[in-house]
Amino acid sequence: MTDNTTGTHGAVLQDSAPAPDGPLVELRGAGKSYGNIRALHGVDLKVHAGRVTCVLGDNGAGKSTLIKIISGLHQHTEGEFLVDAQPVRFTTPREALDRGIATVYQDLATVPLMPVWRNFFLGSELTKGPWPLRRLDIARMKETADQELRHMGIVLDDLEQPIGTLSGGQRQCVAIARAVHFGARVLILDEPTAALGVKQSGVVLKYIAAARDRGLGVIFITHNPHHAYMVGDHFSVLRLGTLELSAERSGIGLEELTNHMAGGAELAALKHELAQVRGVDVEELPEEGDLSAPVATSPEGTP
Ligand SMILES: Nc1ncnc2c1ncn2[C@@H]1O[C@H](COP(=O)(O)OP(=O)(O)OP(=O)(O)O)[C@@H](O)[C@H]1O
Ligand SMILES: [Mg+2]
Repeated sequence: MTDNTTGTHGAVLQDSAPAPDGPLVELRGAGKSYGNIRALHGVDLKVHAGRVTCVLGDNGAGKSTLIKIISGLHQHTEGEFLVDAQPVRFTTPREALDRGIATVYQDLATVPLMPVWRNFFLGSELTKGPWPLRRLDIARMKETADQELRHMGIVLDDLEQPIGTLSGGQRQCVAIARAVHFGARVLILDEPTAALGVKQSGVVLKYIAAARDRGLGVIFITHNPHHAYMVGDHFSVLRLGTLELSAERSGIGLEELTNHMAGGAELAALKHELAQVRGVDVEELPEEGDLSAPVATSPEGTP
């Protein structure tokens, strides 16, 4: 921050302007019911610029419901949803996008047979020439897509290749660079690494960090505590629609986060069940009530 109050930021700061370091997006006691199914209840969440907020939870925990509220697909039925400290209720994803909230879904909305650069500009094509002779500005689109991808550190051999020929991880990266280019302030990623192998997941995590370093507030939805811990600044764990844990990175280690995800008590119960099955080594699973203890990494007696 500078102390130059007459600078470009000074001009737009008014009485109602949010605190510059306040959250971009905030949920306060937010919840969502589908008819009489309560999918989400009493959730608090803050998303800050230049930080990665991880939302973890098992299947059916409410992760998608939470991001659908923030991305404008569904409306919350309880609590508050604020953007730049103003209460909002989006009725379409377009409204969220207009406030700088972009969502990258796992089944990316790309046209597989179209070139990478064309997909980059899909729905927002650049044109040139006066009406009615306006035509696509192909050269500028290719150049811009190339620059933006390079800026994020993504190097593709040929932007003419159909996007369908890229790996799942590369497609995720193109989608991240696209959101950054079109002015996203908040980037929501719904399980971007779920279908990827170790190496490709690493690549996607790298671009999540790159988006964060460019000042975006990132919401990273994942099942995987290891992936979350590699890039996360804050961890929110959902369980059966409620917030089971909300912790800053400094307040939690990977083992504890993993235990929260796995549900220590359920793991312990599973251990007893598995103990009945011959040949399954259950020694390394934690005991009930052993939530904060690190998971043993080597069997007793070995160095
Ligand atoms: N449109 C809907 N109508 C009724 N119930 C729904 C709807 N969408 C979600 N639910 C219910 O809300 C709960 C939370 O679902 P949600 O999809 O948010 O979970 P999730 O954490 O994203 O799970 P997953 O990891 O499987 O994607 C589930 O019990 C689900 O059945
Ligand atoms: Mg989901």
